[in-house]
Amino acid sequence: MSITAADYRWPHRHLLGIEQLSADDVRFLLQTAKGFEAVSTRSIKKTPTLRGKVVVNLFFEDSTRTRSSFTLAASRLSADVLELAGKGSSISKGETLADTGRNIEAMGVDVLVVRHHLSGAAHQLSEAVSCSVVNAGDGQHEHPTQGLLDIFTICQRLGRDDFDLSGLTVAIVGDIAHSRVARSNIHGLRKLGAHVILVGPPTLLPRGFEDMGCELSYCLDDVLPRVNVFNMLRVQFERIEGQAFPSVREYAHMFGLTEKRLENAKPETIVMHPGPVNRGLEIESVIADGPRSAILQQVTNGLAVRMAVLFLVTSVKEPAAV
Ligand code: CP
Repeated sequence: MSITAADYRWPHRHLLGIEQLSADDVRFLLQTAKGFEAVSTRSIKKTPTLRGKVVVNLFFEDSTRTRSSFTLAASRLSADVLELAGKGSSISKGETLADTGRNIEAMGVDVLVVRHHLSGAAHQLSEAVSCSVVNAGDGQHEHPTQGLLDIFTICQRLGRDDFDLSGLTVAIVGDIAHSRVARSNIHGLRKLGAHVILVGPPTLLPRGFEDMGCELSYCLDDVLPRVNVFNMLRVQFERIEGQAFPSVREYAHMFGLTEKRLENAKPETIVMHPGPVNRGLEIESVIADGPRSAILQQVTNGLAVRMAVLFLVTSVKEPAAV
């Protein structure tokens, strides 16, 4: 089912997670992103859609893809963009996130894009300010624009133009426990009808994810032949306490995606990774750089998806819904 702007009113002033979105919200957002794709292929990569609006990037954790993508997305929509990092801001002097948000907002801001190491930080900020808040990754909770761009890429690559993922099996592999990318993907993929298999060592794949409608597996080789899409997650060493697996060699042997392993997968299988990639651990370089890989396509699609997000959250008039 295709949803058009004529019959749909976007209701969310903030984007805090995919969990809060309906299936129609997700489809409409992806449809809107499709409309913005062409802007990035023109010789003049700009549209006046958000002229006069102000977008602020508040990044309290490192980022390459998400931060630059939001900056470019806002610029391509002709918004003014301000960059603020934890290091170098008054957060380092003890100012709270809420105070930081309110002070930045006092300069006349329309959207705060926030990345923070604490789960729930984006929600907390949204309660402190009146402008829109977009979650660019909060702790282990959600990374909604990553989930959306992943799903956009799957649909593009597999020809699902109607954003219906029925009959498709997506394996999310690796460090599920610490992954906000996994949680956002699970919410979005399940809403659009995909079957989701979570694969990883028991230490990184705790029980409870069945409640989100997922199948759990501790053996990648067992599920290989059934999978249409592999989404390989980064092992988040910085969040792992103690030893989650015997050695990186053992992890790569059990859960790394290799050319040999892919011989048992469907020929049309695609491989994704949100980045940054630990080459040789989660995925062999020959796969990451090979024809099945959608990794750079994911990054390209992040722009259109983030343009759609900035456009939609600023389109909501009061009274605001979350
Ligand atoms: N995928 C992702 O969030 O990458 P960055 O940490 O570089 O933004």
